[in-house]
Amino acid sequence: MKKIILTGDRPTGPLHVGHYAGSLKRRVELQNSGNFDEIYIMIADAQALTDNMENPEKVRQNIIEVALDYLACGLDPKKSVLFIQSQVPQLCEMSFYYMNLVTVARLKRNPTVKTEIQMRNFEERIPVGFFTYPISQAADITAFKATTVPVGEDQAPMIEQTREIVHRFNHVYGETLVEPNILLPDNSACLRLPGTDGKAKMSKSLGNCIYLSDTEDEIKKKVMSMYTDPTHLRVEDPGHVEGNPVFTYLDAFSCDEDFEKYLPEYKNLDELKAHYTRGGLGDVKVKRFLNNVLQDVLRPIRERRIEFSKDIPSIYKMLEQGSKIAEQKAAQTLAEMKSAMKINYFEDKDLIENQAKKFSNSN
Ligand code: TRP
Repeated sequence: MKKIILTGDRPTGPLHVGHYAGSLKRRVELQNSGNFDEIYIMIADAQALTDNMENPEKVRQNIIEVALDYLACGLDPKKSVLFIQSQVPQLCEMSFYYMNLVTVARLKRNPTVKTEIQMRNFEERIPVGFFTYPISQAADITAFKATTVPVGEDQAPMIEQTREIVHRFNHVYGETLVEPNILLPDNSACLRLPGTDGKAKMSKSLGNCIYLSDTEDEIKKKVMSMYTDPTHLRVEDPGHVEGNPVFTYLDAFSCDEDFEKYLPEYKNLDELKAHYTRGGLGDVKVKRFLNNVLQDVLRPIRERRIEFSKDIPSIYKMLEQGSKIAEQKAAQTLAEMKSAMKINYFEDKDLIENQAKKFSNSN
């Protein structure tokens, strides 16, 4: 069986270091590993509209931002198909059929949908499109017969829902679709990078993100004002590294060479953590180190982003071509689905012949 990757992001803002640690970095490694037969990276504009319905301009503006982030991180249109979700109409058609395979009760139990309903106080007023986006996400994944979906931990309920839909489709209509596997980051700090304010998640609306497009000064400012351990008041005080986002970021981004380069009095992160926990290590010193580490990660990305941004029309062209390739693949899968579902009337010669016979016998 072919090994196929599909993943994507909602274009609701430029991508941040949480996206990078949680998924983007891994995607680029997988792309360059040569272990995959096909790779599809989708800008999920239609899904973004499910909760930004009144804000189409925001979605429209951010498509190019996300595309630039992709290219800057090293996703390569020669190796990966980069495309826009709304330009592949087959995904809507598939969603429509999958809706028959999922109950309202099951969607209400989807942990992501459940939290959103609670957080936004939706109750019964949840828009149907938003409520059913796990079904549309199943279409995104299955249209490409993806075997592997590299995403952050927050997407796990979506992949689970997709697997159930595939299972049910294949059970009812015969083996047609492929059950995908989630691929989580292997570094546990990357699973869910907290915001610079220590809140569980980076989110544009909370203003606690470091963006891949941030300038050197912006990064420094954000790092130096990061939330740390509120009980670590004086340098001598013992500090906590658990739940301290500065250390979580170091877990995600630093390596032993960074210590050699910027903080040679420590061999590695364990030694730094031990000193902080003991007391006698100030936050400013740790933050300066984190700033150096992050600048090294983000500098080449930012520079490539600026280079790519010099030719925007060619990026739209690339996305257009990618969307055409994606559409062909989705159309192929949809044709197989329709034949399994017995709604392929005009391609089915036997059907037409048999019906003709049936009626000629009764005449
Ligand atoms: N739900 C994903 C997010 O919010 C975006 C997405 C849409 C996606 N369809 C997908 C991710 C299919 C992986 C596979 O980031």
